[in-house]
Amino acid sequence: MKSEIIRPVKSLSGPLELPGDKSISHRYAMLAALADGASELRNFAAARDCHSTLGCMKALGADVKVEGTTVRITGHCLHGLKSSWRALDAENSGTTIRLLSGILSGQEFITKISGDASLQKRPMKRVVAPLRQMGADIRAKDDNFPPLEIHGGKLDAIHYEMPMASAQVKSAVLLAGLYADGVTQVTEPAKTRDHTELALEEFGVHIEKRGHTIAVHGFAAKNGKAALQPKSLDVPGDLSSAVFFVGAASLLPGSNLFIANVGLNPTRSAILDFFQQMGAALQIQNLQSKQGELIGDLSVKGAQLNGGLISGDLVPLLIDELPMLAALGPYTERGIEIRDAQELRVKESDRIAALAENLKRMGAKVEERPDGLRVEGGSAGQLRGAEIDPRGDHRIAMAFAVAGLGASGETKILDADCTGVSYPTFFSELRRLADASRQ
Ligand code: S3P
Repeated sequence: MKSEIIRPVKSLSGPLELPGDKSISHRYAMLAALADGASELRNFAAARDCHSTLGCMKALGADVKVEGTTVRITGHCLHGLKSSWRALDAENSGTTIRLLSGILSGQEFITKISGDASLQKRPMKRVVAPLRQMGADIRAKDDNFPPLEIHGGKLDAIHYEMPMASAQVKSAVLLAGLYADGVTQVTEPAKTRDHTELALEEFGVHIEKRGHTIAVHGFAAKNGKAALQPKSLDVPGDLSSAVFFVGAASLLPGSNLFIANVGLNPTRSAILDFFQQMGAALQIQNLQSKQGELIGDLSVKGAQLNGGLISGDLVPLLIDELPMLAALGPYTERGIEIRDAQELRVKESDRIAALAENLKRMGAKVEERPDGLRVEGGSAGQLRGAEIDPRGDHRIAMAFAVAGLGASGETKILDADCTGVSYPTFFSELRRLADASRQ
């Protein structure tokens, strides 16, 4: 396993191009495989997770061609998927297994799907329960964990009141809803990312939204040829990846970073509002809407961050950015406090425990709580480089690479390759910008 050494640097400057958004890439790939004909997806995520989705769609009979960041997928209509002779492998990707479970529930065949050791520890009952209500027969290890064995078929439309704010659960039910007779509705307790709804509309599906309820009109009543429309689409840059560089540039006083073509969907961009509230020198330019998604350019300069509290309905809106915020905590004036984020314990790792342990290794003062943590601020200049164990979790590795830039001495990120599941070029981009600033 490869490790990376992070050395302190005074600033990060230059232009940065981002890989395509991971959440959007998963959805476009799945829907293209259900369309009637060839779709072209440009700036498709380099993320290993999204390539796990492509592997699964291929195994299910879609014609998938990858040429750099352009992916061409030829689908054969909603009922054109074929049973796979081998179990599908979602590898590290929760989005792949949970969203695909919705689609597989509508198929007239049996599919086995599993993933790596981390994925096999992640709860699936949250998708299994509503999909069973719709009529799918799903078997899971201990009734909760992968591997899943999905016996799909004819589905009933339901109105599902989601017990937790999860875009993956919402999406699984909406995708299964494509195969149901009637209108499937999902009500979410708090807003979550809405890429599935936007992508479904883009591929020609009728979606209705009222407050926190989303409804999809199923195709079951139509004939077997029912299909989505193939599309030619550009995936915006991944804001959740950009955020590590926004954090790094904010932390380092002389920074001046320009990040073009970033996805700024309002259900994802709460992190930028939060950075601005903390005093970050952040500007958004060239805002435009493309294929239902907002995109724009970001410029970031160094600033003194004052810290803050993330809790309640804000948590699902910046769930993937919490590791970065916690790792910046010691460098802020008042610190960072995270509450109501027990979901962090069932991500690619137990992120609360991983953050607390590694922050302490760097000399930060942290209080770990069941639903979050409090990281004491005012510690800039006191943090020291340390050996970081990201527990195989890409976002923990990247968050501590950023924290290491402001610490004294070297920080060693163990198992650094784990960043590939979302951002394979993260360390080379960080090195490029840091080296340019050192000259
Ligand atoms: C995602 C939803 C979120 C997020 C994950 C991607 C998605 O998970 O943390 O990285 O693409 O729908 P939950 O639905 O579990 O909150």
